[in-house]
Amino acid sequence: MVIVMLGPPGAGKGTHCKRIVEKYQLVHLSSGDILRNERAGGTELGKKARQYMDSGKLVPDQIIIEMMVGAIAAAGGNCVSDGFPRTVVQAAELDKELAKEGKKIDAVVNLVVSDDVAERRITGRRSCPVCGAVYHIDTMKPKIEGYCDKCKDQKLVQRPDDRPDVVKIRLKTYYEQTAAVVGYYTNSGQEVLDINADKTVDDVIGLIFKKIDSLVTGK
Ligand code: AP5
Repeated sequence: MVIVMLGPPGAGKGTHCKRIVEKYQLVHLSSGDILRNERAGGTELGKKARQYMDSGKLVPDQIIIEMMVGAIAAAGGNCVSDGFPRTVVQAAELDKELAKEGKKIDAVVNLVVSDDVAERRITGRRSCPVCGAVYHIDTMKPKIEGYCDKCKDQKLVQRPDDRPDVVKIRLKTYYEQTAAVVGYYTNSGQEVLDINADKTVDDVIGLIFKKIDSLVTGK
């Protein structure tokens, strides 16, 4: 099964993908996490991506397509793609690559969230640099303030692109380049599952499971 998760920064894509992969036994492929790992490893790809990510811009299509198409193929086409595609060019390329393997996207989940909620979520996000666990200073607090629950004495950090000035640019980039991906899928006959993501994490994941289940079972 191939699920594509769409939505602006802070919509909750990463948070909900973690629950989706558990339920449907899929591999979680986050383009943002893969890029951050490349950066942490000091690779050429990571070095190229850095300037775009830290300024809230998109990494060029060619780099991302190569990286994500390879990752999806390595997952045997059983994955949730989180953060890819993010342009119409990327979306068309993904369709083309899946068609070569006789596959297609099974579900496109589109998390819809207001800008102020997205901004509050991103600027309050903290994560563990070791295990990648994600917290929020108000809505998903760790047991001990500032420290990871799992890695105990590991201090939580804020992503460099989660500063308020960069968040504004990321949201602008989303409306200018990524929002059109929803229209691309609708126009190509692919059903888009719109989810009101302003609700609590439990409410949102409940809505997502309900819609994916009904798509899979046809009921
Ligand atoms: P990426 O890492 O993908 O960032 P993003 O899309 O901006 O998404 P975020 O990770 O900020 O948000 P999210 O929706 O996953 O929210 P989360 O679940 O963490 O990309 C980073 C950069 O990489 C891009 O800017 C670009 O440069 C580059 N890039 C990546 N993919 C690319 C591509 N395909 N093409 C070109 N460039 C690419 O939740 C946020 C916070 O809110 C958390 O603290 C969470 O606990 C909390 N929260 C979530 N849901 C709820 C809820 N329902 N209620 C209360 N709190 C909630």
